[in-house]
Amino acid sequence: MKLIIKFGGSLMAKGREIMHFLRNYAEKKALSFIIIPGGGPFVEVIKKLSERMAISEDAAHWMAVLAMHQYGFFLADGETAPLIESLEELSNAGHMCILLPYKILKADDCLPHTWDVTSDTIAAFVANKLGEKTFIKLTDVDGILDEEGLLIERIHAKEMIEKGDKGCVDAELPGFLMRNKMCCVIVNGNFTERIIEVIEGKETVCTKLSCNLF
Ligand SMILES: Nc1ncnc2c1ncn2[C@@H]1O[C@H](COP(=O)(O)OP(=O)(O)OP(=O)(O)O)[C@@H](O)[C@H]1O
Ligand SMILES: [Mg+2]
Repeated sequence: MKLIIKFGGSLMAKGREIMHFLRNYAEKKALSFIIIPGGGPFVEVIKKLSERMAISEDAAHWMAVLAMHQYGFFLADGETAPLIESLEELSNAGHMCILLPYKILKADDCLPHTWDVTSDTIAAFVANKLGEKTFIKLTDVDGILDEEGLLIERIHAKEMIEKGDKGCVDAELPGFLMRNKMCCVIVNGNFTERIIEVIEGKETVCTKLSCNLF
């Protein structure tokens, strides 16, 4: 079984520890995890730069994509997983690899170059290219929280678009999921047992963001 996991930059502090856990689990269960790195602190630098100086949306887009590479190299340090740059390399990637998306995005440059598209939509884009209808987003909160801070367990992508609600996902993701009939499960990566429960299809603390009726 192949699984696309977007690994949030927000998890940097425990990032490599979680990566080790995932690699061991993938090996034990003979699974294939494809890790899509977030942008984390590397993308914040670019955001600040683009606020202060005139950087074109194109330049900012590619710089932000390369910020994902920086986080990917960080996560790979300690030999947790190989870094790959094309979908063809997946066949030799073992039980877990980290996908650096620059070349794939350059070859198929169909995502808008705006700050609405970040690593969440890029993870969905890669999942879609691989024919996967779902992906897991690991982040540092329990899922999407409502105005009172309570966890929303299930939400339709359409509802997020209508409410203009972004939560902890990028603004483009709900629309991308709708157009491609996909879903995303948002889990707090600091609780590895929850990641396993999601993978094993068990009930756990998370948000299911979907375009299907439940
Ligand atoms: N309604 C909401 N529900 C949940 N989290 C929210 C909400 N609104 C804002 N957030 C914030 O979103 C953050 C998670 O998103 P963020 O983009 O920072 O992390 P990430 O996607 O894991 O990292 P990266 O974008 O670097 O990969 C949370 O830490 C939280 O502070
Ligand atoms: Mg984010």
